Amino acid sequence: MQFFVNGLNGLLSREQGPRSMAKQAVLSMKGAVSILSAATSLGFGASSLPGQDGVSELPFYGRSPAIYPSPIGNGSTDTGWSTAYKHASSLVSQMSIDEMANLTRGWPGPCAGNTGEIPRLGIPAMCFADSPTSVRGQEFVSAFPAGIHLAATFDHDLMYRYGEALGSEFRGKGVNVALGPVAGPLGRIAKGGRNWEGLSNDPYLAGVGLGAITKGIQDTGVIATPKHFVLNEQEFRRRWDAELGHAISSNVDDRALHELYVFPFMEALHKGACSVMCSYQRANHSYACQNSKLLNGILKTELGFEGFVVSDWDGQMSGVASANAGLDLTMPNAGFWGPELITAVHNGSVSHSRLADMATRILAARFYVHQDDPSYPPLSIYPSTHIHAPVNVQSNHAKLIHEIGAAGTVLVKNTNHTLPFNSSSPQFLTIYGYDAILSPSPWVDPARYGGGYDVNHNWNTLNGTLITGGGSGGSTPPYVISPFQAIQERVSSNGGILRWDFYDPDPARKTPYLNADACLVFINAYSSESFDRPSLTDRFSDELVTNIASVCENTIVVVHSAGIRVVPWVEHPNVTAVLFAGLPGQESGHALTSILYGDVSPSGRLPYTVAKKEEDYGHMLNSSGGVEDHFPEDNFTEGLYIDYRAFDKAGLEPQFEFGFGLSYTSFGYDSFSAKWVHTKDADEFPDSKIAIVQGGHPQLWDTLAVVKCTVRNTGDVEGAEVAQLYVGIPSEKEEEEESDTPIRQLRGFYRTKPLSPGEEVKVEFKLTRRDLSVWDVVSQQWKLRRGKYKLWVGASSRDLRLSGSLVIPSKDSNRKIDL
Ligand code: BGC
Repeated sequence: MQFFVNGLNGLLSREQGPRSMAKQAVLSMKGAVSILSAATSLGFGASSLPGQDGVSELPFYGRSPAIYPSPIGNGSTDTGWSTAYKHASSLVSQMSIDEMANLTRGWPGPCAGNTGEIPRLGIPAMCFADSPTSVRGQEFVSAFPAGIHLAATFDHDLMYRYGEALGSEFRGKGVNVALGPVAGPLGRIAKGGRNWEGLSNDPYLAGVGLGAITKGIQDTGVIATPKHFVLNEQEFRRRWDAELGHAISSNVDDRALHELYVFPFMEALHKGACSVMCSYQRANHSYACQNSKLLNGILKTELGFEGFVVSDWDGQMSGVASANAGLDLTMPNAGFWGPELITAVHNGSVSHSRLADMATRILAARFYVHQDDPSYPPLSIYPSTHIHAPVNVQSNHAKLIHEIGAAGTVLVKNTNHTLPFNSSSPQFLTIYGYDAILSPSPWVDPARYGGGYDVNHNWNTLNGTLITGGGSGGSTPPYVISPFQAIQERVSSNGGILRWDFYDPDPARKTPYLNADACLVFINAYSSESFDRPSLTDRFSDELVTNIASVCENTIVVVHSAGIRVVPWVEHPNVTAVLFAGLPGQESGHALTSILYGDVSPSGRLPYTVAKKEEDYGHMLNSSGGVEDHFPEDNFTEGLYIDYRAFDKAGLEPQFEFGFGLSYTSFGYDSFSAKWVHTKDADEFPDSKIAIVQGGHPQLWDTLAVVKCTVRNTGDVEGAEVAQLYVGIPSEKEEEEESDTPIRQLRGFYRTKPLSPGEEVKVEFKLTRRDLSVWDVVSQQWKLRRGKYKLWVGASSRDLRLSGSLVIPSKDSNRKIDL
């Protein structure tokens, strides 16, 4: 029964609902198939295509290379890890098989996940809690902006401070492991239901964010769990299902796997991530939590991961196979382990050393972040029905949330300086749309503001202002400042007036206010875990905007969206300003009014491409697989060309390109320079004599080149600028005109401090060996290419202001690199 109590904690109201005994029994039987299937990845079927023999299902699993045995962690990365390993190994050496196995599974408890404990050795249970934006489900915690909103700031420092503030809230509640941040999904599918939890579909931007948040969280002593590793790019069929069959298989080539999907995780590992969550779906036909190529191969060999791999909740699909493929901890219950893992070790199916490695990795992670320190706060995680003394961990995070909220707000249209409002003269504003105010009953589920999962199934919009998405990644805000409340605060203090209607589809025509200065329309685009979005637009909201614009000459549209939102009305001459206001968290209204009234000049940039119409995303608009497919497939045929890389390749004009965003001022770029540093002859490969540590070969992180420029505020108000560096990596064959690599890829960004009119700053971008390399599928290493690296610095992926190049001379030329 314990099993199901925990299931409720983690699973209630998801697509599968609370598990029935019968369903669980089927799951266990299915496990037998999976054990068999994983065995086939040991070498069979590598050349067969799914279903080719027409009888057996074995080939469906055989296309992910087999990498065994599972590497044993040893703490060789640095002194922090080696000390942690020493401590962990000495404890594990005193444990029985049963005790070790007890650490590798979940138990019922107060948290979304709870490991076993070993009181005899003073080892307490560990608490794992959601989410990437909030200590979800708890009282007196903050609701931070979502990952995608943070990414829109393009600000390294805010990303770190976000992680640190979030981490301190988990720590304050005594949580050991925070289940975030997210870079899987990366955001390949425009309608992907969880894209908003992640940062950006650009792997560089996502990587910087993932690394900074991970470091921020762990600097507070909480273990971060970058997730979901990897290729969890859609929600539809993300999991095995008793009726429908197997989960979707994300079938990807080796280069795209490394250069797009694994890339951000490298950064998180480099910054010390102690835990990684493997994902639900299949990857090249083998379930991600038993995929030896992903876990043993990429994570633990190529990237030298020292921490532990935890399954996504109920994502374990086999016992012996997952153990040998590199899974270290199954959640939220025993899954296919518990007593079965003990038996497997006794009968030799899983080695004693593999089990000891699992336990060591889990304990080493704790020691690495010093959770053995007696000052670590006691656990205080409770359901809303439990009476307890408040444990308030909000600190002054509202200020940071406000700052990130404003910094991640993207202004995409501003005709004739419509914005900012003049804050000293009274305004007459009309306010329309369901997104301007709070939902009247957003607490249907006390652990998830605004619902989520089935509560809002198939909803395009949330009936009330949208500050977070739904599902496990949502938040539980202490309060929410709605746009209407914040605008009222301004109006009441400067003698303005307001009229409003939140629900009428055509309010401005029915009751015209001819003296109003502007009509503000608030709409949103909702999304929740478990479901991909039904569309990137919705009729009600689009009609609301055009209805108002048809009678109001100064229509300002604010879109709160959980990802891409196509804006078919944007060229309407009466739509004078448009703001993508993201998912800003609890301080939503304040963040917005900071921009509307010009306290802060907007500097947010789109972390994705907004197309003119949905179809422009091509095969990457919708998720794949049908309800009739027992083995659904998603072939990533586009390889490296997702989002702006795809638009650039196809010569397709977006509505608003990746990296785009307007300011209230203007900026000039000048004094471009690019230089190689720290390399004599730029060997193609990192030095094979140097050992790999966590994060990959250490030389991948060496700075090989520096690009510099100046940015000057050429306008007449203060504002920050986001300068972006794009790199065009040469083709494998130098003489080829068209490269086999995207024409340009983001490889640096810098948000300046707010610059006064006329003020100038020097901007410097460091290019590491990895930034300039491609994943070479033959040598299975990151490889620098010879030839001309094109460089551009600009204000977006298409607004390129400065350019230059750097050359790595060909091998046979006598030329050395110009330093
Ligand atoms: C989600 C994870 C989450 C876990 C625990 C899963 O369904 O995919 O992201 O951390 O549940 O709630």
